[in-house]
Amino acid sequence: MRSLLQDAAERAARYLETLDSRPVFPRRDAIDALARLDHALPDTPTDPAAVLALMDEVASPATTAMAGRRYFGFVIGGSLPASVAANMLSVAWDNATAMRTSSPAGIKLEDIALKWARDLLQLPPESMGAFVTGATMANFTALAAARHAVLEWAGWDLEFDGMFGAPPITVVAGEEVHASVLKGIGMLGLGRNRLIKVPTDDQGRMRADLLPDTIQAPAIVILQAGNVNTGASDPFEQIIPRVKRDGVWVHVDGAFGLWAAASPRLEHLVKGVQLADSWATDAHKWLNVPYDSGIVFTRHPAAHRAAVAQSAAYYMRSDRVGEPAFYEPVDYTPETSRRGRGIDAWAAMLSLGKSGLIDLFERTCDHAQTFAAALKSCGFEIIHEVVLNQVMVRFGDDQHTQKVIQAVQQEGTMWAGSTVWKGRTAMRISVSSWATTADDVERSIDAIIRAAQTI
Ligand SMILES: Cc1ncc(COP(=O)(O)O)c(C=O)c1O
Repeated sequence: MRSLLQDAAERAARYLETLDSRPVFPRRDAIDALARLDHALPDTPTDPAAVLALMDEVASPATTAMAGRRYFGFVIGGSLPASVAANMLSVAWDNATAMRTSSPAGIKLEDIALKWARDLLQLPPESMGAFVTGATMANFTALAAARHAVLEWAGWDLEFDGMFGAPPITVVAGEEVHASVLKGIGMLGLGRNRLIKVPTDDQGRMRADLLPDTIQAPAIVILQAGNVNTGASDPFEQIIPRVKRDGVWVHVDGAFGLWAAASPRLEHLVKGVQLADSWATDAHKWLNVPYDSGIVFTRHPAAHRAAVAQSAAYYMRSDRVGEPAFYEPVDYTPETSRRGRGIDAWAAMLSLGKSGLIDLFERTCDHAQTFAAALKSCGFEIIHEVVLNQVMVRFGDDQHTQKVIQAVQQEGTMWAGSTVWKGRTAMRISVSSWATTADDVERSIDAIIRAAQTI
């Protein structure tokens, strides 16, 4: 085991050290070579060292350099060194982190990470959190808690009596609601077609003046911190006091944008977000921990538990089971057996400290401003207000823009994807990695300009 793990650590270190000198997206020949792995399961064993060597030699070259410094696709963070190392150690622990009786260490670390994250995000101290696989499951879990609570407030016991015959729940969201929220609405039986969509402004923010006059309770209102294209957030301060009343639960999808609350310079962008009832965010995006890791927080631990908790005679539970603010993941996540993914977040936060985290969020936003200013000065069109870490740029019409994006991707210095904003195609640059330096931004800007000139 020792030599195998040393070999794995050595290969992982070499992989990360050489990431910078290879194309961000793998070459065609590396992808084609993956076919070598695609054979029938052998009858006889393979030496573990050979398994690892095969994986590294064949699969590593076909990976995307998402852990690298010039990956600007989607909203993808890298992984802070402490979080990679903590992740590796916790894999060796192999603790099912569901209950304190199954992993005292894993749960303690997650519990601490949740408190630190809650304080950084300035969420109410009574909020309870849990680590899930990502913002999609965080949204799902929060909406499950919301569904339970609004029906309970209406006198209906959802978990026992089910959805059939329950009072109908009004669900309101902005037109720019993220697709993963719609997935959650579908999975929870709230009905995608029943969603009342409120128009948004040119930055994707919900228009407070166009909210329905009355929102019929029981109701769930879904807001957004950090539009996936523009980075803009809904005007929480205007909306939440207006919609919040008996029977209404307000949820915020803040996959990356919620972290703005941690920075004194950026917090005004999400002012009032703390007034909501629940929040979903990611750790694997802006907090820069390995996949997969998201966090759900709710202000109503009892509803949160009621929606997803479970028990069975053979689950030996700790003494304090039933106490709402006592963290046992099995009671706050849709999963039962699970990895202690909060351990990576604990390591990331401890390694940077508060000042390092604030610097991470602010620095990546500064890089986004540099991208925007440089590309604008070359005559390219920045099609939104750059307020956070997202930049959308056009190089002419849709077709031309698409060609430039493809050329940039093929050239390999950096990778950014395409998006469509208000009917117009754009390159979307998301600066989310701790590792990106000013030099990387300059190199990437040069690569974009070169590609645009060639096309
Ligand atoms: C606003 C928003 N919500 C939800 C998600 C889904 O996050 P995940 O893929 O981590 O589940 C994203 C992903 O980009 C997002 O930007």
